[in-house]
Amino acid sequence: MCGIVGYVGKNNAKTVVLEGLEKLEYRGYDSAGIAVVKDGALKVEKRCGKLQNLIEHLQTIDMSSDVGIGHTRWATHGEPSDINSHPHFSMDKKIAVVHNGIIENYLPLKNELIEKGYRFISETDTEVVVHLIDSMYNGDMLKTVAEVVKVLKGSYALAILDVNNPEEIICTRKDSPLVIGIGEGENIIASDIPALLKYTNKVVYLNDFEIATVRKNKVEVFDKELNAIQFEVKVVDWSYDQATKNGFPNYMLKEIHEQSSIVQKMLSSYLNGGDFTFANLFSTIDLKRYTKIHLVACGTAYHVGLQAKYFFNEISKMDAKVEIASEYRYQNNFIDDRTLAIFISQSGETLDTISALKKAKEEGATTLAITNVVGSTITREADITLYTLAGPEIAVASTKAYTSQVLVMYLFSLFLAEKIGKLERKEEKIAELKRLCELLKVENEDEIKFSEIVKKLENAKDAFFIGRGIDYYSSLEGALKLKEISYIHTEAFPAGELKHGSIALIEEGTPVIVVGTQDNLIEKTISNLKELKARGAYIISIGKKEYEDMKNSSDIFIGVDVVSQILSIFSVIVPMQLIACYTSMKKGLDVDKPRNLAKSVTVE
Ligand code: M6R
Repeated sequence: MCGIVGYVGKNNAKTVVLEGLEKLEYRGYDSAGIAVVKDGALKVEKRCGKLQNLIEHLQTIDMSSDVGIGHTRWATHGEPSDINSHPHFSMDKKIAVVHNGIIENYLPLKNELIEKGYRFISETDTEVVVHLIDSMYNGDMLKTVAEVVKVLKGSYALAILDVNNPEEIICTRKDSPLVIGIGEGENIIASDIPALLKYTNKVVYLNDFEIATVRKNKVEVFDKELNAIQFEVKVVDWSYDQATKNGFPNYMLKEIHEQSSIVQKMLSSYLNGGDFTFANLFSTIDLKRYTKIHLVACGTAYHVGLQAKYFFNEISKMDAKVEIASEYRYQNNFIDDRTLAIFISQSGETLDTISALKKAKEEGATTLAITNVVGSTITREADITLYTLAGPEIAVASTKAYTSQVLVMYLFSLFLAEKIGKLERKEEKIAELKRLCELLKVENEDEIKFSEIVKKLENAKDAFFIGRGIDYYSSLEGALKLKEISYIHTEAFPAGELKHGSIALIEEGTPVIVVGTQDNLIEKTISNLKELKARGAYIISIGKKEYEDMKNSSDIFIGVDVVSQILSIFSVIVPMQLIACYTSMKKGLDVDKPRNLAKSVTVE
């Protein structure tokens, strides 16, 4: 969703803001803009389309200044256009505002402002905020903003620039992320950490309703009544290099390659011999009291939930259910104080997931967040947080976040099983984990197979994925990966379900990706594969190396090693991620920033 960057300090604000916006491109956007205070006046420039359009447009414009705010907009109210892009400014061009989120009561506010004589030039909800600030201005911008946010309904991260007070940026948030990077002789605000990393790794996370004044040498944070708050500066252990492509043609491919070393790092951080190093997080909790587990997430993280459900059922012998966050938050989930509700979110900012967590907490569940981003909103809402240690994930299509989330869930299921006296064959299970890094390595030997697969897929309209049991859950993730970055319509089915309707979609040459790793189910999966083949499907199989029949019945077979049935996702995920990535590359698409999508979904 939208990205905000603001800068005040010793460098040229335009440069820092544009660089920061570039780092936020992954969030998804359709236009960009910047405002600086120069020679006592506000200069605002905006361009629809890629950030590059704005950068090129600015080449001949002098915007050098030590203070500025910028924005990448993901359209909600009003089409992507220069006018609708942020920053929005007051009629006298003294105040500029950038906004991430949705002002739900913008319409009545707009009508009131129109009656007072305010003229609107855009269709956005955000323009209401800037006119509201202007109309309520009481000579003190901080106090004015505190009054304005009391009137706003919905979600917002706001950064405000005022010509009459050019040494500072005022920012505030509710339900949309905003961090402040603390530098030396400079401070930066941004929607996400990668935008700050070139300048600092010291960050302050703003909480809902807090308001901050950010100056070159001073940051102050206030609560909504404007009492000063003692804030904590956290050090993020992400580096600027991690947020670069490092020689890869795109972030997605780089992140796929990183998975093996991330798993290694996670295992050495979370396992000390046979001990789980995160045990202290649960020291005050009696895990035996829980009778049910809820797993709640969106998109790829939801697919992690499906794998995790299997882990809790099989290893911890616990009842677990998986729910999509946007559904969970509006339904009766029969929560009580014996419910352990687990919320999985790479960004830790997904609005639906956070809202679902708040609901579960209110209803009495213990809440556990699984996230990648230290200090993200979800970590401040949940009772306990377990981090995935994957480093910044920039590509919209989630890869390393997925594998690291699955691993955290597996480790937690072992830990839980041990605590409740259900863990069997612990040593064997821990030994198996040590082999996962090997499985996640990207091998070049399959390159020819991948180019054949891509040749088949690049012109396909549809592609289907099938699997049984845990392989079905893996197929869902494979289908989502391919769909979101190649724009091929994909669907995943439990292999046995096809003949109940969907097999009607199979035509001569329709690509079907068959996932098969479960010894107890493979014969049945192969029968389904043959049913499809008989109807003309082009079969691409990803299965255990030793499955000869699968190999012989497929057009293309990718044989994989499996360390244990339950951990089979680690064997099949890399080929599926590569199929998606290479297909998107072959089609000449923007692998990292697929159309219409945002990395961090901070609206409902
Ligand atoms: O940050 P989150 O893990 O909460 O994001 C959830 C989904 O939006 C995300 O997993 C999405 O489905 C991925 N882009 C898919 O690759």
